[in-house]
Amino acid sequence: MLELLPPPPTDPLWDLTAEFAADERPERLNLVLGVYRDAAGRTPVMAAVREAEIRLAERSESKEYRGLSGNTAFNRALLGMVLGAEGTADRAAAVQTVAGSGALRLLADLICRTRPGTTVWISDPAYVNHRPILEAAGLRVRPYGWRDADGGFDAAGVLRELSGARRDDVVLLQGCCHNPTGVDPSREDWAALAELAARDGWVPFVDLAYHGLGGGLEADLAATRMLAARVPEMLIAVSCSKNFGLYSDRTGCAIVLGGSSRAVRHAETTLQNAARTLYSMPPEHGAAVVTTILEDGQLRDLWRAELDVMRGRIAANRTDLTTHLSALGCEAQARSLARQKGMFSMLPLSAEQMLRLRRQFAIYGTTSGRINIAGIPGHRIPFLAQGIAAVIGTGADAGAGARTRQSPAVSPIP
Ligand SMILES: Cc1ncc(COP(=O)(O)O)c(C=O)c1O
Repeated sequence: MLELLPPPPTDPLWDLTAEFAADERPERLNLVLGVYRDAAGRTPVMAAVREAEIRLAERSESKEYRGLSGNTAFNRALLGMVLGAEGTADRAAAVQTVAGSGALRLLADLICRTRPGTTVWISDPAYVNHRPILEAAGLRVRPYGWRDADGGFDAAGVLRELSGARRDDVVLLQGCCHNPTGVDPSREDWAALAELAARDGWVPFVDLAYHGLGGGLEADLAATRMLAARVPEMLIAVSCSKNFGLYSDRTGCAIVLGGSSRAVRHAETTLQNAARTLYSMPPEHGAAVVTTILEDGQLRDLWRAELDVMRGRIAANRTDLTTHLSALGCEAQARSLARQKGMFSMLPLSAEQMLRLRRQFAIYGTTSGRINIAGIPGHRIPFLAQGIAAVIGTGADAGAGARTRQSPAVSPIP
């Protein structure tokens, strides 16, 4: 049977990560995946997480099956964190999922089971897995532009395009720290989007993966809460991968907001049914960790403080890189960096320039120009800036030990 398989496509980001792992140049810099790294280049376990794990291990009571919604205390805690007063029981329900990706998929299944073939609008560019997840669930995808010619948020263009969305459509919006561009709508832009959704009846589908890492937890959740207060129905995919550092524990939840408690209960059961056929139940560990943190005042404060440190480091990296680029005459790159937010930035560099960064300087970003700002050890920023200056022709040829790799062809990927 397996002999019949045609060569399948592989995942470009993971291919690039493997290519990085095989690169033996000591100066190599991995800015591909959305992972936070500290000043020493490590992705640490947060102290609040470690403490919660110790407490959980000490009282380790049972590993009996959870229900189809996973850990219900976790679901309640995340509803409260994300929606505050809007997360009340008769308006909203949450189902624990296999991280943010699992939430996106379960909610896509919910849309499809409600109305097969629904059109979901996604930004262009979008998170690399949005389209594949939605299409795998059987939905139609329609892109809408995100940035203007100057690289900022294209408020007029987005509102114009989305005024073509129909009542039956769903619009996917990233709640903060847009991946891959780092370009977010302003508060006024979000208000205009909420107004449009309320007027035209399309359903906002908010993807929250970076809350706490842009402008602070409350600020990063403000747009989601504003939308929730304005529209009758809404879907939210929540990831705990980045802001709790629980990448491999696969922790997240799917939230639905509905116009009646009956509709909300039906949606919740539909999500449970979808989970049952995909993986039955989500893993417990990460959800237990998050619940332990959020239910304990001290641990919660510790986590918030650590999150603020991470956010501060990302912002400092951005400022530092901006300053270095500016000093090297890379004005367009410095300008775009300065107004972006969160883990990622999209540099105005061509695919060829990004490939040159990879070949000549062992600096790995995607060919679309995306780099992970949170992945740069602070002392490597001058090296990165010099590499960028060299490929756009404003700097010296990045003296910092650049050695062209004689390896096979580098694949152009998004
Ligand atoms: C915008 C966005 N949504 C969702 C996810 C999925 O995150 P995870 O499944 O690791 O929680 C990511 C991961 O990078 C992301 O960037």
